[in-house]
Amino acid sequence: MLIRSTGMFIAAFMIPSWIRGIKSYRCRKFSVQLTQARKLPSRYLGQPSSFTHPHLLKPGEVTPGLSLSEYALRRYQLMHLIKEEVKATGTVGNTDHAVIFLSNPTCYMTNDIPYQFHQNTNFLYLCGFQEPDSILMLKTAPGKDLPDHKSILFVPKRDQNRELWDGPRSGVDGAAALTGVDLVYTTEDFKLLVQKLKDEGITIWYDATKPTHPQLHCDYLKPLLESRSQYKNKIRAVRHLVQNLRLFKSEAEIELMKNAGRITSQAFIETMFASRSPVNEALLYAKFDYECRARGADILAYPPVVAGGNRSNILHYVKNNQLIQDGEMVLLDGGCESFGYVSDVTRTWPINGRFTGPQAEVYQAVLDIQKSCLSLCSVGISLENIYTLMLTMLAQNLTELGICQKKLNNDEVFKAARKYCPHHVGHYLGMDVHDTPDISRSLSLQPGMVITIEPGIYIPEDDTEAPRKFQGVGVRIEDDVVITEEGPLILSADCPKEIQDIEGICSSRK
Ligand code: GLY
Ligand code: MN
Ligand code: MN
Repeated sequence: MLIRSTGMFIAAFMIPSWIRGIKSYRCRKFSVQLTQARKLPSRYLGQPSSFTHPHLLKPGEVTPGLSLSEYALRRYQLMHLIKEEVKATGTVGNTDHAVIFLSNPTCYMTNDIPYQFHQNTNFLYLCGFQEPDSILMLKTAPGKDLPDHKSILFVPKRDQNRELWDGPRSGVDGAAALTGVDLVYTTEDFKLLVQKLKDEGITIWYDATKPTHPQLHCDYLKPLLESRSQYKNKIRAVRHLVQNLRLFKSEAEIELMKNAGRITSQAFIETMFASRSPVNEALLYAKFDYECRARGADILAYPPVVAGGNRSNILHYVKNNQLIQDGEMVLLDGGCESFGYVSDVTRTWPINGRFTGPQAEVYQAVLDIQKSCLSLCSVGISLENIYTLMLTMLAQNLTELGICQKKLNNDEVFKAARKYCPHHVGHYLGMDVHDTPDISRSLSLQPGMVITIEPGIYIPEDDTEAPRKFQGVGVRIEDDVVITEEGPLILSADCPKEIQDIEGICSSRK
C-alpha cells in the first residue's frame, strides 16, 4: 500500500517572534518539500502503520493524526532555530552541524521482563519512531547552509530470534517508509559514522547531561564528545530549542489533546458513578484506568493520585491502597495518554455523593479561584501572573473561611496562602505532563500553548491552627487549557466540577 501517491507536499509554518536570539518581531514563512513517499512494507512493523492499523492511521500519517509533512516541518523548524542560535552566538571554523537525539532504552521490571516501552518525547516529536535503541541525526550537507539538512535514523536491525520474543521490528525499510526521513541505517552502523564525525570538525548538537539512553551514550556519544573536547563551542545543547517548538501546538496536536481531554473527562464521570463507601482507592484507580483504555487511550500519563480523606493532603500520594470511608472526599488526579499526547485533570468529590457543609465551603472556595484563574488564560498573561492572582484570591478566601486570622498583615496572609497551597497554579502540558520544563513560567501566553490550571487548598488533619471542621480536608481542581485568540479553550470541560453537577452524577450512580 502506498503512503501517498507520488508528488511533493508543501507545508508552511511561522516562527514565533519571541524565540531566543530573535529580538525583533518577525514572521517568516517556510516551505518544506518532502521527497516522494516510499511504499510501506505489507507486514507488521514495530508500531502501527496505515497498512496494519487502518482504524488508527490514515495513509501519509506517521503516528495517528500526525502526517509525514508535520514531522518534516518540525525537523526543519529545529534546524532553523539552530541557524538563529548560531547567528546570535557565533561559531568557529567548519560550519557544518549534526544534531543527535537518542531514543529511550527498554526498561526492565525484573530479569527479562520489560515494562511497556515508552519513547523519549523529544525523539518522538522529531520523527515519530517508536522503537527503543534508535538514534536520530539531522545533518547539514557539506557546502549547504542551515536549515538545509538530511534526516537520518539508525534503527534496530531485523532479528528473527529477538522478534520471536519482542514482536516485529520495523527494520530499515519499514522505518524509512513509515517516518519519511531521508536515510535509514541500523543502529550498529552509527559506529562507522562516529569515526567520520570525529574526523570532521563539525558542531555537534546533543544533550550530554542525563542522556536518554545511557548505553548508546557510553558506546557512541561519549567517545565522540571526548574526541572533540579540544574544540571550543563545538558541542552545543539542543533541548531548549526543541522545547521552544513543543511549546506551541499545531492544529493537529490540539486535536489530539482534545481527544485526550475528552477521554479523561468521560473516565472521571464513570469513576464518579462507581464511587460508594466504603471503597478501596485501588478500585477507583482501576476503574479510571479501565475507562481511559476502553476509550482508546494507550496508557495513563502518570501514576494517578487517588486519595481518600486526609490523604488528599499528600500531594504526590500514589499508594492508592486505603479504604475511603463514608463522609470522606476523594481527590483523583489522573489523565490519559493517547497517541503521544496527555491530559492532566483533578477532581475532588464526596465518596457518598453529598458534600458536608465544611467540605462544600472549602470546595466552593477552590472552585471560585479556579474559575477566576481560567478566565485569565488569554494571550499576553503568564503562568506567573495567574499564580499571583491565585495567591491573592487564596489569601482572601482563607480569611473568609476563618482559616486565616483577620488580623494577619499582607505578608503573613500570603505566607498562609503558600502554606495551604504549596504548589504552583499550573504548568505547560503536551507530550509530557510537566511539558517543556525549561520554559519559564514568566513567558507571556500565546495562541497554541497548552497549560493546566490547578489551585488547591490542603488542610492536614493535624493542622490545629485551622478550625476543627476543616481539618483533614484537601481539595484540588485541575483543568487543561489551550490559549487561543478567542480566549481559553478548556480541554477537560466535559468533566463536571460544579457542586450540584457532581452531586447529580453521584446520586444517579448505577
Ligand atoms: N499530576 C501532576 C500535576 O498535576 O502537576
Ligand atoms: Mn495533575
Ligand atoms: Mn498538573
